[in-house]
Amino acid sequence: MRIENPYIPKLATIEKIITETWDTKTFRAVFKDEELRESFTYEPGQFQEVSVFGVGEAPFCLTSSPTRKGFVEFSVKKIGSVTSALHEIDEGATIGIRAPLGNWFPYEEFKGKDLWFIGGGIGMAPLRSLLNFCLDNRKDYGKVNIIYGARSSGDLCFTYEFDEWQNSPNTELFLTIDKEEERWNKNVGFVPAYVMDLKPSPKNAIAITCGPPIMIKFTLQNLKELGFEDNQIWTTLEMKMKCGIGKCGRCNIGPKYVCVDGPVFSYAQLKELPPEY
Ligand SMILES: Cc1cc2nc3c(=O)[nH]c(=O)nc-3n(C[C@H](O)[C@H](O)[C@H](O)COP(=O)(O)OP(=O)(O)OC[C@H]3O[C@@H](n4cnc5c(N)ncnc54)[C@H](O)[C@@H]3O)c2cc1C
Ligand code: FES
Repeated sequence: MRIENPYIPKLATIEKIITETWDTKTFRAVFKDEELRESFTYEPGQFQEVSVFGVGEAPFCLTSSPTRKGFVEFSVKKIGSVTSALHEIDEGATIGIRAPLGNWFPYEEFKGKDLWFIGGGIGMAPLRSLLNFCLDNRKDYGKVNIIYGARSSGDLCFTYEFDEWQNSPNTELFLTIDKEEERWNKNVGFVPAYVMDLKPSPKNAIAITCGPPIMIKFTLQNLKELGFEDNQIWTTLEMKMKCGIGKCGRCNIGPKYVCVDGPVFSYAQLKELPPEY
């Protein structure tokens, strides 16, 4: 019996690159192995380790939905060596992918409920996978609400999907930016404050949030004030990682390895852990 080495990446070709903002790009990759391309599947909330040969490897969430087959997408904010190398490559380049890794959003438990997606900046990337999954399985979920904010209109990602999102049945998109801008006719203000203005009802609802730590902190506080229970709030963490498969101990929070026990956690689960995240 041949045992696969979990550290060896599968080769993939970058098929498409979308410049989202001045510091963020979205990459669509297809596995070179045709059989793998057809059979590969994952769950919304899972992540992958992407390698740029000669530079290194870094984890990124899968931002595409598993309902849309044949490719994987990931969005990358340029901050260091691997992310900068990814920003330098062109369509047609070869990368390595180890995936799927980690746990995922318990979308079966969310069925029949109203969903509040609350994202900030690049934090919309992991939410987009679950959001498009839910929109592709529209009848399984109640009202879908998307609160998405960024520093400025130029910092919003996935703008080319906004029409699709807001035109889906029983779905509403609420956009906000931090400061006034000419020609901006949506909300102005921070995401947590906008949550308070919109006052989502906790009745039969789930909130899924991801964004900068400060946004998450105040969004959690506000959701609690609105009456959301700890197990109605879900988020996804981005600890520093190395192996991605629970071997190196780089990503632990107390007894949990974020790479295998996470990255998706409910607020109830996070409260059980030491506040190291
Ligand atoms: C499960 C998971 C999912 C992720 N999803 C995404 C995603 O969808 N899009 C995206 O752009 N990024 C995502 N990240 C973060 C991404 O992995 C890091 O930005 C990347 O590893 C940085 O690599 P680098 O070589 O460019 O930076 P480096 O050269 O290694 O570091 C540059 C600077 O960034 C800091 N840094 C590195 N990694 C992290 C981290 N994980 N958190 C905070 N600071 C860090 C370093 O300390 C250093 O100051 C995710 C991380 C995890 C763990
Ligand atoms: S990254 Fe190695 S144990 Fe999680």
